[in-house]
Amino acid sequence: MIAGRLITAQRARFAAVDPALPAPPGPPEGELLTAATADGEQVAAALQTKSHPPGALDLLWSAQRVWQLFPYPGETGGEGVDVLLRAWRHRMDAESPGPDSACAVTWPSRDAPAISAFLRHGMVPASVLAIRTRPPEPAPVPDEVTVRLAGPEDFEEVLDLTTVTFDYTALVTARSRPEAGELMTPQLRRNLAAGAPVWLAEVAGIATAVADCGWIDSAPGTWAAELLPHGRWGYVNNVATRPDARGHGIGRALMSVVHREFARRGAVGTYLYYNPTNPLSSVFWPQQGYRPLWTFWEVQPASALR
Ligand SMILES: CC(C)(COP(=O)(O)OP(=O)(O)OC[C@H]1O[C@@H](n2cnc3c(N)ncnc32)[C@H](O)[C@@H]1OP(=O)(O)O)[C@@H](O)C(=O)NCCC(=O)NCCS
Repeated sequence: MIAGRLITAQRARFAAVDPALPAPPGPPEGELLTAATADGEQVAAALQTKSHPPGALDLLWSAQRVWQLFPYPGETGGEGVDVLLRAWRHRMDAESPGPDSACAVTWPSRDAPAISAFLRHGMVPASVLAIRTRPPEPAPVPDEVTVRLAGPEDFEEVLDLTTVTFDYTALVTARSRPEAGELMTPQLRRNLAAGAPVWLAEVAGIATAVADCGWIDSAPGTWAAELLPHGRWGYVNNVATRPDARGHGIGRALMSVVHREFARRGAVGTYLYYNPTNPLSSVFWPQQGYRPLWTFWEVQPASALR
């Protein structure tokens, strides 16, 4: 069991580092790891493991086998994180992770003292969850661009465009999923049939960019409430512009419609994930008013944890 004093300290630490973070829930299930700082202060973490079966949608952004650590470093700043990661390294000696595996930690993006600890143990900021809560600003859509909701009849074009994102992220991240289209197909078909908020930007009648979005309810007790402040959020799942049409304002025009529509339908804000190593999205999203809330630290394969 994680000690009550560590849970109290975690709540205080997260609240101090970023007021937009939801209060951390009670300690997660998992194997208990303990460690002590040079001054003898005891810290602890919970370790969970999971495996995704073939065909699981999670494989789009996750390794097949994941060891996830939930550190509780108390009031020890970066040192407590460091000693817990060291204990984790020793614990991983008992495992034989295959190539499609990762060690992962989700941590508040603004907790600067923890960052060097993650880096020293070989972890990289693989992805961030970023939020946007400001009201939509008026941004005219250029005359030649039409933005409209997609329907089931647009399945092929939407799939083609959403696959464009994975063609690009395969270049700028350590994960490549050539089967991304097959993994996305069942959910995309269901979403389009259900009238999900998926928008297409067309130029001269040709589908040129997509914003595949959805609704996420962050209600007390849900997984979403562990990541997002309470309320109904617009989730911006996948946005892509065809390579030859990038840099002409189509993405900006598309997102101006997305932000306006989500605000009109009562969203408290919108959120998304992007890879800090993606040179296009890491610039585009902050310019669109998004700022990191959580960073997903990862090392793959899991045996590469230092
Ligand atoms: C992120 C993305 C959707 C933006 O779409 P877009 O239609 O290029 O967006 P815009 O043209 O409105 O804005 C792109 C920005 O990059 C700049 N840019 C300039 N030349 C560019 C080029 N050759 N290619 C891309 N962007 C360029 C634009 O000027 C603009 O900056 P600004 O707002 O300061 O003017 C697009 O780059 C893309 O499809 N990337 C690959 C897939 C991806 O990474 N998706 C996001 C996953 S989280």
